[in-house]
Parts: sequence; C-alpha cells; structure tokens
Amino acid sequence: MNMDALASAFRMDGVPVSCVPSGNGHINKTFTVTTASGHRYILQSINHYVFKDVDALMNNIIAVTAHLHIKNPGDPRRVLTLVPTLDGSYYTRTPEGDYFRMFEFVENSVCLEQASDENDFYQSAVAFGEFQNQLSDFPADTLVETIPHFHDTIDRYRQFKEALAADVKGRAQECLPEIEFVLAREEEAGQMVRMLQAGKLPLRVTHNDTKLNNVMLDADSRTPLCVIDLDTVMPGLAANDFGDSIRFGASTAAEDEIDLSRVCFSLPLYTAYTKGFLSACGKTLTRPEIDTLPLGAKLMTLECGVRFLTDYLGGDTYFSISREKHNLDRCRTQFKLVSEMEDKWDDMNRVIQEVYQEL
Ligand SMILES: Nc1ncnc2c1ncn2[C@@H]1O[C@H](COP(=O)(O)OP(=O)(O)OP(=O)(O)O)[C@@H](O)[C@H]1O
Ligand SMILES: [Mg+2]
Repeated sequence: MNMDALASAFRMDGVPVSCVPSGNGHINKTFTVTTASGHRYILQSINHYVFKDVDALMNNIIAVTAHLHIKNPGDPRRVLTLVPTLDGSYYTRTPEGDYFRMFEFVENSVCLEQASDENDFYQSAVAFGEFQNQLSDFPADTLVETIPHFHDTIDRYRQFKEALAADVKGRAQECLPEIEFVLAREEEAGQMVRMLQAGKLPLRVTHNDTKLNNVMLDADSRTPLCVIDLDTVMPGLAANDFGDSIRFGASTAAEDEIDLSRVCFSLPLYTAYTKGFLSACGKTLTRPEIDTLPLGAKLMTLECGVRFLTDYLGGDTYFSISREKHNLDRCRTQFKLVSEMEDKWDDMNRVIQEVYQEL
C-alpha cells in the first residue's frame, strides 16, 4: 500500500510519512507506519490463503478487543487496538484483493522470540492467563471457528488413519513404532473433546497460538502489556491454550531436534508457567478445567505429533520441510515429550494442585 492509499484508508493521527516492513511473523505481512507527528502504527496484510473467511476472522477480533477494552479502560498499551478506516470499518480491501488492517503500535515494548530465562516464560503465562480471565464472561459461542476442527483430536485421529490407510509414499513401514504410539493413545486423545460434548468442560475464548512471541512485554519491567496475533482466537478449551504453551515452551530442545536425548520435558518450566497462568485465571476456571490442565499439555503435544506424522505419511503437503524426514523428526520430538510427561504424570498433577491450593 502506498502512502496515499494508506492515508485515504485509515483514520490516522496525521499524514503517514513512512511504511517499513517489521516483525518476523510467518503468517501475515507486517509493517510499521509512522506519521508526520511521530505516531506509529502497525499495518498488516491478512493472509487470506490461510484464513478463508476474513470477515469472520475480523469480526472475532473486533468483538474480543472491544470486550478487553472495557476491562482495561484508558490503557491503550494493555489491549491490541484496531485503528478504524475512514469508512467506519476496521479493515480494507485493495483493488488487488489484499486485505489490510491497522493497529496502534505498542510503544516501549519487547516481543521475544525465545525466553532468556524462566521469568520470561512465567510472564507469558501471566499474559495468557489474564487474556483467559478477562474473556471468561465473553460468550465464546458467538465467535467463529476461523480454522474449523483445529483442536478436534478425534478428527485429527480420523485424518491420521486415512493417511495411514492410503500410505501414498509407502512410508508407513519405516514408522511402525510411531504409528503404534499414536494408536495406543486413541481413547485418551478424545477425552477432553468428549468432556466438552458432555458439558463437563466449558467452552472458552481461546487464543490458539500461545507462543512467547505473541505477547508484548513492557521494555523496562519485562512484565506483560498485551497479547497480540488474534487471528486464531476461537471458541475452545482453556486447557488447550495452556497445553500448547507447555508443549512448545517447556521442552528443552527445538521442535525438530534429531538427537532425542536432548528433548526433555522440563518440570521447572512447566511449574513456572503454571504459577503465572493460574495467578491470573486460576480463580475463574472451573475445578474440572484445573484438573485437566496436565491432560491439556499431554494432548496438545500428542495432537501435534499426530499431525506431523499424518503429514509425513501423506507426503509432506501441509508443513513446509527443509530436509528429508523433517516431519518424521518433528513427530518424534513430540512423542518423546509425551512419554516424558507420562513418566512425570504424578508430578504434573501435584504441581497443578499445589499451585491451585496456594491461590
Ligand atoms: N501492535 C503492535 N505493536 C508493536 N509491534 C507489533 C504489534 N503487532 C505486531 N507487532 C510485531 O509484529 C510481529 C508480527 O505480528 P503478528 O504476530 O501479529 O504476525 P503473524 O504473522 O501472525 O505472526 P506469527 O508468525 O506468530 O503467526 C510481532 O511479533 C511483533 O514483533
Ligand atoms: Mg505472531
């Protein structure tokens, strides 16, 4: 978008004088726009190949951020803030068919790619816990599933079995232990979906991309300001958001590490995240939600591994790969983590109950 198009699209404080690429997001294209008065904004083109229904996606974000603004009056750094367009909407479509939206720039903040210590991970837990807490009275069922069946573990198993039956690349033979690992856990994998269906777990507003780099921290205090990257905000289970953070953040190695002896599940990191998360939302979650947090961690890790294995069997069509067997390596790290969680299962439950008792 050139400066003129920008100026005639969004209601900014002054004339835009520069627009430069920024951030290192993988899904959307992100730019920083500065106006003559020095006011900064974030401009993003929305990836409409990944997200088919941009209207629904934006309606989710508009509704959720409006709710968060009511909870954080007069504090613009505490909520991701959409900038309206001149025609009264919150996003615009160019003649080429690209969608753009604009946010207030969160000033004096940092966005970390990796935790430098346990505290960074703890602070991200506080941020996602606050997000959960402040949206606990939002009607989650009014949000649209921007990616249908995202954490439908039963459906993930169905897709896995389909890929296994088709075995289009003849790869099943070389991953028999992994296939067996998946099949042995099928009953357990569907447990939380069934609890939701039976009304035993409430439907919540979930973020679904609860990584450290989707939290803005104050540059001075390194405490949370707000949660960003709201494209995957959907109705879901609180334990799944918790679980995905653990899957990614409490592992001692990269998701595609080949040397499995380096892939361990860290109980201290899990404990730090639990403390941060429950300090912010422990009192709003129901008892069954608290009790299923360890299961959330295990099932998100299992589901992720199942998806990598499904893609490996299907010929690597979904996750981009940069080496042979990349998806097989990735599924192995996830299953190693699941095994470690199973070994430390009593400790995982004990930590949750102890932290909860102390609230
Ligand atoms: N309001 C904001 N103020 C300041 N910086 C921001 C803001 N929104 C986004 N950023 C920066 O831009 C980066 C990308 O933003 P975002 O996470 O929304 O994009 P994405 O492409 O969806 O990312 P991902 O790869 O995580 O899916 C962030 O990591 C952050 O550094
Ligand atoms: Mg992001």
